[in-house]
Amino acid sequence: MNAPWTPGRAATTREPFAAFVCDEATAEALRPITVEMGWAPEKVNKGGLRNAVQTLSVSASPNILFVDLSESGDPLNDINALAEVCEPGTVVIAAGQVNDVRLYRDLVASGIQDYLLKPLNPDVMREAFTSAHAMLNAPKTVEAGPDRPHCAVAVIGARGGVGASTLATSLAWLLSEKNARATALLDLDVHFGTGALALDLEPGRGLTDAIENPSRIDGLFIERAMVRASERLAVLSAEAPIHSPVVTDGSAFFQLQEEMRGAFECTVIDLPRNMLVQHPHLVADVQTAVLTVEFTLAAARDAIRILSWFKSNAPQTRVIVVANRVQPAAQLEISRKDFEGSIERAVDYVIPYDAKLTAQAAKLGKPIADAGKGSKTVLPLIELATDIVEANDTATEDAATGKKPKGTATGGSLLGKLSGLTAKFPGKTAKK
Ligand SMILES: Nc1ncnc2c1ncn2[C@@H]1O[C@H](COP(=O)(O)OP(=O)(O)OP(=O)(O)O)[C@@H](O)[C@H]1O
Ligand SMILES: [Mg+2]
Repeated sequence: MNAPWTPGRAATTREPFAAFVCDEATAEALRPITVEMGWAPEKVNKGGLRNAVQTLSVSASPNILFVDLSESGDPLNDINALAEVCEPGTVVIAAGQVNDVRLYRDLVASGIQDYLLKPLNPDVMREAFTSAHAMLNAPKTVEAGPDRPHCAVAVIGARGGVGASTLATSLAWLLSEKNARATALLDLDVHFGTGALALDLEPGRGLTDAIENPSRIDGLFIERAMVRASERLAVLSAEAPIHSPVVTDGSAFFQLQEEMRGAFECTVIDLPRNMLVQHPHLVADVQTAVLTVEFTLAAARDAIRILSWFKSNAPQTRVIVVANRVQPAAQLEISRKDFEGSIERAVDYVIPYDAKLTAQAAKLGKPIADAGKGSKTVLPLIELATDIVEANDTATEDAATGKKPKGTATGGSLLGKLSGLTAKFPGKTAKK
């Protein structure tokens, strides 16, 4: 079945494709697409699931297996019978006439890559085979370096639209490419996330499934649900329907983080501010928070509040303040100096406003760190990624030797900071 994928397993001794269908109409619909994919049309066999089980019990499993469930009285049970004879590494695509979301979910949970509704649509088949193919070509098991501790980073915007997701995607890309760490990008903006979009990927249903069925989240689920951007970068993101609220106690998110810790060296979490309010436990095991700000009064106020929140709720987390979309001094609502005075700490990194680069990155479907190699805008991001992994590795060494970890949330009372803010901007009232 499609998980667990064992890298290096002899794909050469296997047929690339085999199908077992129940009727001639399905075979006719399937054959031209198999030819398009470069597979032999004779590999489309009659006999449905039963024939698949019989055949595979005495022969090697193909890389991609298409199986028609139309004649199966109990598809879930029969799929389990198939799993017993099918070798690991085979990606299974099922088809059937039953249009039932529950069946679909149960099939996916039992290891099926996709379930296509009959009569088969050519575009849907192409899409399913292409993603099955991509899955086969992307080794799924990532070996974490033996000595490197897991590095979890949460990227939080002090205000909406400050570029937190832009930074999260680029950071994840840099950690995977420049710092060579197997990295997961977990986009917790479930309705409006851009993690997958920014990497030109379809988000898939993984995150939505995880929220609906947290008990199903395990290593295998992670392997199946995460969408690969490259050999070392995978994304879990969603475009949940906006007519339905996300109902969760946060356990799914926590569980996902837990599993990602086991499967990757770094996790970058795009963490919307409201998630911090609703599910504060999400940062319990996060070593680094990247608080993204702009040089505006509102961002200063909320940076103060979020810094204070970290001090009270997650004092173990190192908070790095990154100012993004920074315009030339004359166009700033607040100068850097005043901003730093208000939040009573330094801004660690400053990323210039660069509309040309963000537009270019969007057009290419790449993170800005990839689209803008060598650009001045990207330089601070490269430093930030390196800073994060180095501090993480050092903190773990220090923990072993009993030293205090590098910079945690800053001190000072919230009230004091707010009065500081008011003093800096007389005329403006710091709101509660
Ligand atoms: N350094 C930059 N220069 C210019 N534009 C930028 C920069 N960084 C991000 N942007 C742009 O700002 C917009 C908002 O970015 P993004 O979606 O990353 O913000 P966000 O903080 O995640 O927003 P939301 O609150 O909706 O989650 C996007 O159009 C993005 O391309
Ligand atoms: Mg965002």
